Amino acid sequence: MKKEINGVLMNVPEHVAIIMDGNGRWAKKRHMPRNYGHAAGSRIVETIVRDAYELGIRYLTVYAFSTENWSRPESEVKALMKLLESYLTDCIAKAKKNNMRVRVIGDISRLNPKIQALIRELEEVSKDLDGIQFTIALNYGGRDEIVRAVRKLCADVRDGNLEESGIDEKRFSAYLDTFDMPDPELLIRTSGEQRISNYLLWQLAYSEMYFTDVLWPDFNREEMIRAIEFYNGRNRRFGGV
Ligand code: IPE
Ligand code: IPE
Ligand code: MG
Repeated sequence: MKKEINGVLMNVPEHVAIIMDGNGRWAKKRHMPRNYGHAAGSRIVETIVRDAYELGIRYLTVYAFSTENWSRPESEVKALMKLLESYLTDCIAKAKKNNMRVRVIGDISRLNPKIQALIRELEEVSKDLDGIQFTIALNYGGRDEIVRAVRKLCADVRDGNLEESGIDEKRFSAYLDTFDMPDPELLIRTSGEQRISNYLLWQLAYSEMYFTDVLWPDFNREEMIRAIEFYNGRNRRFGGV
């Protein structure tokens, strides 16, 4: 949508995806344990979602835990799961006030039953809210998502619900976890790394990519506006001239 931000008319992307990276380095700079950085990183998420909504973004999708993150030390994985539990509980209480419909993408069957129940409750209580669609990628990997989609698709072909000749890009997208959202026009990755780390592999095919050195716990509204300004400076061609 078009929106005036700081006195300038801007083209605001409908869907922004974020790789929230740099919690560990943020803590290290303060001579604190990594988990201190994760706690700081999770505290700012609510404000960022609210800022995104106010700036005119309709879909915000954040990478919270990847399929690869299980290989971190057990104590860190445990701390992340604890934070996730309290974040989800808080989110259930605040979804309505923040007018956000919350969805989780990724394979949640590997998460503990308590977290799975919180996810179901959060999706249920927020399903009719129409302010912003906030999506959290949990135990998410782009390759894993594609493989799960292929499995579902094969089952439909086997059961006679889908013709092989009817499979095209649009039909395939409907089997992905992101079936109910447009592709992100803009990807933001914090902390200076310039890679995708298995995030939204299919959906990022034509996204603009904004990399910033800011560490995730320091990300804020001004940084989001900088990313939108960057997006406005791009010339989106989709393969044309
Ligand atoms: C991102 O911060 C949070 C998760 C991946 C869960 P990191 O923990 O990756 O922080 P750095 O990259 O080590 O600084
Ligand atoms: C990507 O960050 C995953 C999340 C932000 C959840 P990582 O820090 O785990 O990615 P790599 O290991 O640097 O690629
Ligand atoms: Mg990292």
